[in-house]
Amino acid sequence: MKSMFTIEQLQQKISDEINKVDLVKEPANLYQPIKYTLDAGGKRIRPALVLAACNIFSKDIENAIPVALAFEVFHNFTLLHDDIMDNSPKRRNKETVHVKWNENIAILSGDAMMIKAYGFLNDLTANLLKEIFPVFNKTALEVCEGQQYDMDFETTENVSEKDYLKMIKLKTSVLIAASLKAGAISGGANEKDADLLYDFGLNIGLAFQLQDDLLDVYADTNVFGKQTGNDIITGKKTFLLINAMERADDETLKELKNLISDQKIDKQEKVAKVTSIYNSLGIKELTENKISQLHNKAINSLNSLSVENGKKEVLLSFADLIMKRKK
Ligand code: IPE
Ligand code: IPE
Ligand code: MG
Ligand code: MG
Ligand code: MG
Repeated sequence: MKSMFTIEQLQQKISDEINKVDLVKEPANLYQPIKYTLDAGGKRIRPALVLAACNIFSKDIENAIPVALAFEVFHNFTLLHDDIMDNSPKRRNKETVHVKWNENIAILSGDAMMIKAYGFLNDLTANLLKEIFPVFNKTALEVCEGQQYDMDFETTENVSEKDYLKMIKLKTSVLIAASLKAGAISGGANEKDADLLYDFGLNIGLAFQLQDDLLDVYADTNVFGKQTGNDIITGKKTFLLINAMERADDETLKELKNLISDQKIDKQEKVAKVTSIYNSLGIKELTENKISQLHNKAINSLNSLSVENGKKEVLLSFADLIMKRKK
């Protein structure tokens, strides 16, 4: 048996496992949106990280499959509710569930997905369940905290970079970090290594969310699969907006604040004008530099991991992929 899997093999494995989940059930308005969401794929980053982390410590990754499924289905659940909260029309190049069906359906299908996610954990051995459940549960609640800060910040005037980093740590990083930690535990890692992978995940997760903020402005919509400019339209305090406000002179700052709070302006015009302010202030380069710093910090945690370097390769490629992602 081959001992180390590639990212592509891990992602394929996840897709195969997700396809096995029976979602052709009634009532159709509960289950079809779940199938629609899971079939749309996405990058499957979190479950792949679960399996990759497990694989560092164990040739056999079967133990980690319920964990991988739990993280991926939980993540997909958060997207259904997030898209309502962010008024997002498109995800993975398809209409979002609340648009294709309606908000109530997106809420309830989301709830069912969260319940399903917990259900997968029930397939773990008693020993693993005991270790992994608290990690999963703590993380799930933290994601809610982060999502609430994200919404609170829409109407908070002065959000510092520190506040922002705390918010994205909660809404995005902890889930990526916990995927790695729970995967490592499934593979029999010691506590120190599991925690080092968690730290790696925290910084990769921050870089990942910064890249998401960047792509929301600068991506090719068809590749990104989401509507670009949505963060500007909804007045999200992204890394880009916070730093633009920080760097702007008095006049530009006034213009930027007026634009963001303007509810009547044509949406495309708003996006174009805010983007042009970002461009004039070098915000893209600033964000790219921060992503690169966070990437380096993440790699440092990997350096201390007590396994041979060859075993770290998959996670290094992962970190690279996240830096370069266009979707
Ligand atoms: C989207 O996550 C939500 C964020 C944390 C930015 P992904 O970019 O991993 O979404 P999918 O699963 O690949 O569609
Ligand atoms: C996502 O943040 C965080 C969660 C879904 C928990 P975003 O709102 O930026 O994610 P996208 O851009 O809609 O995927
Ligand atoms: Mg959001
Ligand atoms: Mg969103
Ligand atoms: Mg986003």
